[in-house]
Amino acid sequence: MTKVIAMPGNPGIGEVAECVASPGYLRAAVDHGVDLTVVGPEAPLMEGVVDRFRDAGRAIFGPVAGAAQLEGSKIFSKNFFAKYSIPTARYRTAESLEEGLAALDDFTAPVVLKADGLAAGKGVVIAQSMDEARTTVRQFMAGELVGDAGRRLVIEEFLMGEEVSFIALADGENLVPLLPAQDHKAIFDGDRGPNTGGMGAYVDERILTAEQVETVMRTVMRPALEGMRREGSPFTGFLYAGLMMTADGPKTLEFNVRLGDPETQPILYRLRSDLAAVLHAGATGGLKDVVLDWAPEPSVAVVLAAAGYPGKVQTGDSITGIAAAEALGAKVFQAGTRWEGRDLVTSGGRVLAVTASGATLTEAITAAYRAAGEVRFDGMQYRKDIGKKGLKRW
Ligand code: AMP
Ligand code: GLY
Repeated sequence: MTKVIAMPGNPGIGEVAECVASPGYLRAAVDHGVDLTVVGPEAPLMEGVVDRFRDAGRAIFGPVAGAAQLEGSKIFSKNFFAKYSIPTARYRTAESLEEGLAALDDFTAPVVLKADGLAAGKGVVIAQSMDEARTTVRQFMAGELVGDAGRRLVIEEFLMGEEVSFIALADGENLVPLLPAQDHKAIFDGDRGPNTGGMGAYVDERILTAEQVETVMRTVMRPALEGMRREGSPFTGFLYAGLMMTADGPKTLEFNVRLGDPETQPILYRLRSDLAAVLHAGATGGLKDVVLDWAPEPSVAVVLAAAGYPGKVQTGDSITGIAAAEALGAKVFQAGTRWEGRDLVTSGGRVLAVTASGATLTEAITAAYRAAGEVRFDGMQYRKDIGKKGLKRW
């Protein structure tokens, strides 16, 4: 494969790909003679883009709509965990205010309330008291927090432990795990403040031992793959388990059906294998003998977010310093950016992810922050403690 086309793309991927706007994915794949399509976000997956490509006989890496429900509906996924004995937090579901309030009787604070549908990372509330839990159930059911997505709820026990993002490539039959990563969901240092899509992530060998990786594969990943096969929707694509490593072993908080942001940046930063070839194998049932080759150095990605994030954000601010950051050896991945004439400006909440590696995790952290220090835009905010949790393990 010699050329990458991105739809719609952005200025960052535009450095390596041709960005095209098009009325339809399949139409674009046919028009451009695309050999392999890889789906990034969850929405087109749930709408069945993979089903349509398959029907048209075109190679695509991603789950069919039936399998994408693992991310699209928390109730579906909790029931799926129960059916296939995948460890998860004890839970009840509720589809009305009365059911929600009644279900709370089975729990003590803190208790976790989750909107069933997609809510862009804003559908989970950890209530610290039962009073707060009751108020939150009322707000969800009234559509006040995340609209209709909140009128069906999962209510579950609060789990304690380290969170780990565990992503594997799946071809329906086989799994190839990527390196485990740790995200930082809260907006402020020390995991304080509201949850975001992720403010930074790192990858180093000590996040999980080889034995823990095997436990996750045996108790979570393989049962999920097998379960989806039995449900008649074999899973192809990126299978992402959000795990809590509890005293009782790994428990599954959620599945995503795509790569995670910002975990992808420090994970793929270390990949030495040809990603296109691996994904093509994934799309065509050929993962059985694939072994991935990784650079050994720990990697860290620090997200630079716009003022106001994770609430309403300010956009349109000029960004400078990316070239200077990359001259220091980092890679600056772009998310919320766009061109305004010849100016690169902010266009979303999480704007950039400055990614670097080093001989040790400490050196990787230092390298990422040194590079981040070169970048400027009005109202830029970022966490100063990305990767610090990993240092406790050394
Ligand atoms: P989710 O969308 O289900 O991954 O939830 C978003 C975030 O809420 C997770 O990344 C955790 O930080 C937190 N969370 C979700 N469920 C639980 C739970 N049962 N116990 C503790 N924290 C949780
Ligand atoms: N960083 C978590 C996610 O991509 O959903």
